[in-house]
Amino acid sequence: MPADGTDPDAAAAGRLRLEINDLCKEFYRTGGERVRAVDQVSVDVHPGEILVLLGPSGCGKSTLLRCVAGLEQPDRGRMLIDGAVVYDGEAGTMVPAHRRDVNMMFQSYALWPHMSLRDNVAYPLRVQGASRKQARAKADDYLELVGLPGLGRQYVSTISGGQQQRVALARTLINEPSVVLFDEPLSNVDAKVRSQLRRELLRIHQELGFAAVYVTHDQIEAMGLGTRIAILRDGGVEQLADPVTIYEEPATRQVAEFVGEANLIPARVTRVSGEVAVLDCVFGEIEIAAARLSGSAADGDRRAQPAEGAAVVLMVRPEHCRLVRDPAGGGGANSWAATVDATMYAGSRTEYSCQVGTGQLTVWELATPHPLRAGAAVRVEIPREVVRVVEAG
Ligand SMILES: Nc1ncnc2c1ncn2[C@@H]1O[C@H](COP(=O)(O)OP(=O)(O)OP(=O)(O)O)[C@@H](O)[C@H]1O
Ligand SMILES: [Mg+2]
Repeated sequence: MPADGTDPDAAAAGRLRLEINDLCKEFYRTGGERVRAVDQVSVDVHPGEILVLLGPSGCGKSTLLRCVAGLEQPDRGRMLIDGAVVYDGEAGTMVPAHRRDVNMMFQSYALWPHMSLRDNVAYPLRVQGASRKQARAKADDYLELVGLPGLGRQYVSTISGGQQQRVALARTLINEPSVVLFDEPLSNVDAKVRSQLRRELLRIHQELGFAAVYVTHDQIEAMGLGTRIAILRDGGVEQLADPVTIYEEPATRQVAEFVGEANLIPARVTRVSGEVAVLDCVFGEIEIAAARLSGSAADGDRRAQPAEGAAVVLMVRPEHCRLVRDPAGGGGANSWAATVDATMYAGSRTEYSCQVGTGQLTVWELATPHPLRAGAAVRVEIPREVVRVVEAG
């Protein structure tokens, strides 16, 4: 596509595919209880970006997606697709679903059993007025793209669930919508097929570069597919960032607990000297980088540095802790005598639960040829720079 400024497509390419501002949607349960399914959500989707919505069951992921698709009418806020307003609560604008340039893919395949795979995939083009010949030719290309070359004349009942989901993907992408919406598209297929389809989806996304909103409650899927991840909780966005930031710099303890495994350690600030802050916790004294007390660089709003005596919650990922086999060795800051309480060998890593002082610490060791047994006396160490503060004040 020429980017000379005269091409309207080029101008469109730089534009946000989706803008959601301050969107709210409430439901009333039978009996009158109010549920804030979407609560003041503001997010954007850039061209070529996969925005993942991740959060526990009932946090509002599907409702937000359905609002974008036009299947649900929000109560308040504003939404633009490709620069055009599709919903504006104040102006009373609500563009109906069939006039929005989005396609949605669900966990159920929703294919038509009486049509061939080719005609299933061609359907959105036919609705838009393409000739049967043109639509079928493009459908064959898309069946090949999703790894089903030559199966165009088959019927749905003759292919597997994983293959049906590939057909559904081809049908979702074929008319090149501005935004592709996915609501847990892989949750109905078994684990092996799911990870295979996930890799395929990444490959197809690299090839086509579509913009997408992808709902899942599978954190591996979220981190593997997401350009950015929005963590939702009770209808609101708890954190919006790239996968590495979400995992390494969780903004709150809820994000830390929801994504990956986390050791959460309540602590109290004893003193701050220069670059190092010293805190008291169940293990004894723990040192952390003083800068961490005032939030990470990744936090948009840096918090005020907690004063001496202030209570905080620290977070350390299990793979960032170290297990030292010689209980007499080590020493120095953030090194404590410990006992292995439980060992779980998991092949690529060994998961230890350790008693440290009056507390527990989960430590993961990668590729351990000789896992320690429960009862072993060890030391555990936490490098200062891997400790995060996920709650303060
Ligand atoms: N039509 C409705 N009437 C009343 N409450 C609803 C309705 N639809 C959704 N809700 C409620 O709104 C909240 C958000 O629901 P939603 O389906 O968006 O969650 P979700 O994050 O997609 O969950 P899951 O991961 O289980 O699919 C839930 O508390 C749900 O019970
Ligand atoms: Mg849902």
